[in-house]
Amino acid sequence: MNRIGTGWDIHALEEGHDLILGGVRIESSRGCVGHSDGDALIHAVIDSVLGACGLGDIGMLFPDTDPRYRGIDSSVLLKTVMEMVREDGFRIVNVDTTVILQSPKLGPYRQAICEKMTALLGLKEGYFNLKAKTAEKMLAEAGEGRAVICQSICLVESV
Ligand code: C5P
Ligand code: MG
Repeated sequence: MNRIGTGWDIHALEEGHDLILGGVRIESSRGCVGHSDGDALIHAVIDSVLGACGLGDIGMLFPDTDPRYRGIDSSVLLKTVMEMVREDGFRIVNVDTTVILQSPKLGPYRQAICEKMTALLGLKEGYFNLKAKTAEKMLAEAGEGRAVICQSICLVESV
């Protein structure tokens, strides 16, 4: 049986913070403000995976009020989610994502992000896809480079 789920996340971008997307550090003057490492791409992917498996959402599992998750590497959170996915008898078929980021361009980081996410999600090569878009200087904070928005859709099958 196949099931799908979607995920969405937004993080503020400010100077003096690292920009990490899909577990990869992006060279940028502004980075994500967040309780964890602020990796909005992994957070959107986690919600799409949880949605597909009917397992709730990221805040239920990792509350941002819990000091254990302060500054945590979001790939650690995704590894925990993947254990739950396997315990529930699901396998991820593919994940497709969109990052809305005014700058910098993600092209130079695409391969590294795809390789990292493909490994974390236990996917076959080519089954994680990343699309990057600017906000065409619209969408308020996103268009001014003060926010990043990430979307994800995930297909799982029961094994
Ligand atoms: O937003 P726009 O349509 O101008 O983006 C054109 C292309 O630029 C995208 O299809 C994508 O390949 C690339 N892009 C990127 N990183 C961004 C925004 C866009 O690599 N932050
Ligand atoms: Mg365009």
